[in-house]
Amino acid sequence: MAVLHVSELRKTFTRGFLRRRTEALRGIGFTVERGEIFGFLGPNGAGKTTTIKILMGLLFPSSGTAQVLGAPAGDRAAKARVGYLPENPYFYDYLSVRELLDMVGRLHGLPRRVRHERAERLIERVGLRHAAGRALRSYSKGMLQRAGLAQALMGDPELVVLDEPMSGLDPVGRKEVRDLVFELRDQGTTVFFCTHILADAAALCDRVGILVRGRLRDVGSLGELLEPRLQAVDIVWQAPDEAVEGLRRFAGQHRDAAQGHVLQLPDQEQADRFVRALLDAGGQVLQLQPHRQSLEELFVSEAQREPEAEEASA
Ligand SMILES: Nc1ncnc2c1ncn2[C@@H]1O[C@H](COP(=O)(O)OP(=O)(O)OP(=O)(O)O)[C@@H](O)[C@H]1O
Ligand SMILES: [Mg+2]
Repeated sequence: MAVLHVSELRKTFTRGFLRRRTEALRGIGFTVERGEIFGFLGPNGAGKTTTIKILMGLLFPSSGTAQVLGAPAGDRAAKARVGYLPENPYFYDYLSVRELLDMVGRLHGLPRRVRHERAERLIERVGLRHAAGRALRSYSKGMLQRAGLAQALMGDPELVVLDEPMSGLDPVGRKEVRDLVFELRDQGTTVFFCTHILADAAALCDRVGILVRGRLRDVGSLGELLEPRLQAVDIVWQAPDEAVEGLRRFAGQHRDAAQGHVLQLPDQEQADRFVRALLDAGGQVLQLQPHRQSLEELFVSEAQREPEAEEASA
């Protein structure tokens, strides 16, 4: 069963006297299956938080549908089975994390003993044992983020929705969150999170969606999407003088460099063909270098594609 199902989702914000419009979501659709870790990737302003708020029933879409655990987004019974870490967690900051977790546990209707046990386990799990009795007011950003994660897990959710879970965390904290997410998946929990940090998505996700300016550019498995795409192959070669002329007629971009003749070819197949001809002619491959598109480059190129007006007046 699909844990999340979003179809044709649109959200337009209208602001101020001039009714300026921002199309935050321009018709996105995707499905997340049970037990998946799904990463929502996109630059600032892409619409990630807007999507998450709609899923959590905190915002109404302008059109389209969003379903969470088989119920329309915002359904209270379904929401009780979801753990949510907001982008800027705001807590009653005079509470300690222990008190916060107890309060969240109460909202979930957990008996006292279960609340206590679970709170202590989570406090330990997110590394806040040393500060468990202190008011959240005195917490650093990373500590607050950890408290936010703990409260998201307090209801033993089937689905965890995390808005930038790594934000504000140091490298140790990021690793801890990664381990935590894997642990959740091992328990069968579905995790949906958004981030603009590619490395975090690459390390965590079964599938990712790339969101740019309110449109989903691509959804796929890490293998399909994040596997570096081969852009070109550079071959540095040498051959007996009498063979060079013929080999230079091979289709591709030829140039000469200090190390030898260089040929750039667009794909592996053509590279193989050239290498065979080269060897047959008594030549040698000195170097063979594939150029792959990194995740970083993919992201940037997706972000730059098709620049369009961000806003229009109504
Ligand atoms: N309440 C609002 N009123 C008007 N515009 C809004 C509102 N909330 C979001 N927007 C606009 O919607 C677009 C998407 O914002 P959103 O917060 O979803 O982006 P994001 O992908 O979460 O970005 P970030 O990585 O910075 O968190 C932005 O252009 C933003 O200015
Ligand atoms: Mg956001």
